[in-house]
Amino acid sequence: MGPRAEFEAEHPEIHILSADQAGRVDLVMGALGWLGDEEQVTMCRALSGDSSTVMRVELQELRGGWRTAVLKQALPWLQRDESVAMPVDRGTAELRFYRRVTGLPEAAATMPRLLGGDEKRSVLLLEDFRGASDLTSLYGGGSLGEDAANALGSFLRALHVGTRGGQDPEPAHTGMRTLNQRLVFEAAFASPTAGAECFGPDGPRLDGPALEEIEPGLGAAAAALRADSGFREAIAALGRRFLDAGGCLVHGAFHPGNWLLLPDGGVRVVDPQFGGRGEAEFDIGTGLAHLLLSQEPDETVRAFLAAAWAPPQGEEEREDSASDEPEEIGALVARYAGAELVRRLIGGAQLPLAVEAGSRCALLDVARTAVTDGRMEVLET
Ligand SMILES: Nc1ncnc2c1ncn2[C@@H]1O[C@H](COP(=O)(O)OP(=O)(O)OP(=O)(O)O)[C@@H](O)[C@H]1O
Ligand SMILES: [Mg+2]
Repeated sequence: MGPRAEFEAEHPEIHILSADQAGRVDLVMGALGWLGDEEQVTMCRALSGDSSTVMRVELQELRGGWRTAVLKQALPWLQRDESVAMPVDRGTAELRFYRRVTGLPEAAATMPRLLGGDEKRSVLLLEDFRGASDLTSLYGGGSLGEDAANALGSFLRALHVGTRGGQDPEPAHTGMRTLNQRLVFEAAFASPTAGAECFGPDGPRLDGPALEEIEPGLGAAAAALRADSGFREAIAALGRRFLDAGGCLVHGAFHPGNWLLLPDGGVRVVDPQFGGRGEAEFDIGTGLAHLLLSQEPDETVRAFLAAAWAPPQGEEEREDSASDEPEEIGALVARYAGAELVRRLIGGAQLPLAVEAGSRCALLDVARTAVTDGRMEVLET
């Protein structure tokens, strides 16, 4: 039995939503008290949710009023391929993240407002950014610009600083954290026959010939990296650190697929399904990796980093102390960025990069030094 059939058998009371059943969506939203007086769901349109069901719902009032919202349901399988199981806690993790962020005005201003949430059914109702598109266009040569980079960095800083050392109840995201650890730190090295549950949404790593087809030399470079026991130990140790860390709330998947560009040029952040407590450097490193993959200019990368990084509380005054040397700060960001680069360059989560031949191999080299030595040029000047 697949994960969806299993879930349906165990939870016959939970409505599984889809955009082609507006009547059912109306019923569920009504039952949850999410509809106003005399308000009704008139239309649903699927948005490009890869792992969850995401739709725009149009709500109409008898009196002629009209609004839209985004409805997201994250059940324990992959929307794109229902044979792939996903952790049961992901809907809860996302909802708890949005609830926590509501108390952080600066971070909340960069995310959709939470209009409703139900843990049992794993559904969220969010403010709809109509006319927005995700920033995966960056991979094809689009440019982010310094203002947007600064806004994304400032969002991270507000999120991390606002939750650092706090006593928040741990969001229920153990399954999602373990999955993220596998995706970012292990999957590019695991055997391709390890089974669907090992790779979740990413798919198995690519083998040498497949990588050579993407870029000549990449297969050989991947083989060298995979055979390098020092590198493998360094990335595995980083993965273990990732699993144990808990300094502040982190987004967990901070990349252009989850950054939205508004028609007025503003940026917003969505999809904290991997959100939970962790290390600020993980989000900053992930964002940095994607700016490098997109070949954003140095000024943009630096604008992002300058806005995102905040030294741990109390350390600003101790500028001469050895514990907060800039190298120390950059090292962990570099290591996490390196791991995400490896995942995207030789793992199963390939991106539609429009880059010159040789660029991927060069970035893989950057990633190797970043993971093993905690060094990356852009963090050093
Ligand atoms: N509040 C929103 N306003 C407008 N569009 C949105 C909103 N939330 C999500 N979207 C659109 O829906 C897409 C999918 O949303 P989201 O990333 O939350 O879904 P997912 O299935 O969890 O993610 P993925 O596709 O990354 O696996 C987004 O990339 C974006 O285009
Ligand atoms: Mg997403």
